[in-house]
Amino acid sequence: MASGSRAQFSSKLGFIMAAAGSAVGLGNVWGFPTQAASNGGAVFLIVYLLMVVVLALPMLIAELTIGRHGQASPLRSIASIWPKRSKVPVGFGLLGLLTALMILSFYSIIAGWLAGYLVSPILDLIGLHTAANWLESFSLERNLVLALVFIGLTMKVVMSGVTDGIERWSSRLMPVLVGLFVVMIIYILTQDGAMDGLKMYLVPDMSHFSADLVVGAMGQAFFSLSLGVTVMMVYGSYLPKDINIPKTAAQVAAIDTGIAFGAGLLILPAMFVAQKHGVQIYDQAGHLLNSDTLVFTVLPAMFDTMGSVGVIVGILFFALMLIAALTSSISMLEVPVSCAIEELGHSRKKAVWWIGGVAIALAAAIVFNFGTLFGLVITISTVYLQPLLGLVWAICAGWVWHRAGLLEEIRQGNPEVANSLFWKVWPNYLRYVCPILMGLVFWVTI
Ligand code: TRP
Repeated sequence: MASGSRAQFSSKLGFIMAAAGSAVGLGNVWGFPTQAASNGGAVFLIVYLLMVVVLALPMLIAELTIGRHGQASPLRSIASIWPKRSKVPVGFGLLGLLTALMILSFYSIIAGWLAGYLVSPILDLIGLHTAANWLESFSLERNLVLALVFIGLTMKVVMSGVTDGIERWSSRLMPVLVGLFVVMIIYILTQDGAMDGLKMYLVPDMSHFSADLVVGAMGQAFFSLSLGVTVMMVYGSYLPKDINIPKTAAQVAAIDTGIAFGAGLLILPAMFVAQKHGVQIYDQAGHLLNSDTLVFTVLPAMFDTMGSVGVIVGILFFALMLIAALTSSISMLEVPVSCAIEELGHSRKKAVWWIGGVAIALAAAIVFNFGTLFGLVITISTVYLQPLLGLVWAICAGWVWHRAGLLEEIRQGNPEVANSLFWKVWPNYLRYVCPILMGLVFWVTI
């Protein structure tokens, strides 16, 4: 790379791996299946698929396009479509960056737990039972140490830069993730009880349908595609001009949705397999146990009943979760890092050190005030700020940005687009439908 020129993904595949790596995370392998399980299975799946197409994908295209147009940090990319100099785009960009840091801090705590459940059975095997127990029991020290380790890993990848860090690690880890996934799904589906779960997941029972379910599915689709907090704007800014954005975005959304679907194929049957082994999956009132219990109690209990194979399956399962989490967390850290590099002139190394430090401090603040802050930070960042920022970007791309400019950007890498159905529909869709849908989510949540 010539000095002074900006980093870019080295290939289209590299970009797809990185963007899909960001999108595929705990939201897919944990959030989606547990939400599906507690919302009637198939009905949630159908509504979710719809939401990806009608809301998340058009928004993903918008964020990527703004980013690639700017070829700069989100602060500048947003300013680049603004008609005149103004502090407004910078303000929203900063809000996005802060939200990314908030998400990183709670995400790292959860990912830390997963790391604990990954290492614990290994320690058990070599006789370190006390340490193994410590890793699996809730304590301030454990939460802190593991979150720190996870943020450290994230920092290490981001430190190596866009191609050597983010792209390379995403390209390595994503295929491993898919491979592990396929093996586990095949295994689970051959177990006793799996078919009950499969039925719940694939045969719709319309009595579960509700407005809350629709809003839940919308929020889930939004989180899953890493929208709102300018992650996709940053990744778009590393995208070469000869890439067809709508098509590539559709591929990323397809991978993300495919993995979420696969996670449902794994977790829902696994619950019923666990039940066959005598593990409790419903509470006294007949409701499904909550998602933490599901992932951290039900599944390990099922692995235990499998004997020695179970140890391996358990390790694979948590390794899978952790890989998915890491390729997502790097995208969150990259947002503030890219801003510090371009706005403050910091070296990548320096930016990663101090911003990683801030993320650690935030995570520590949550760990020390777990009861009050954990849920609160999740709610503020994902329930309020993410849709709010999404709404802002839809307005930016649909209303603020001059239509000719938008077309010009989309046309690069996609010369025929002006005559396509996509171009007839998407800009107006972004203008009217996306803000209304997003406003609806907002209204219902408040
Ligand atoms: N999409 C990821 C997941 O499903 C998480 C994620 C990465 C994210 N970057 C994000 C969520 C930005 C919201 C905003 O787990």
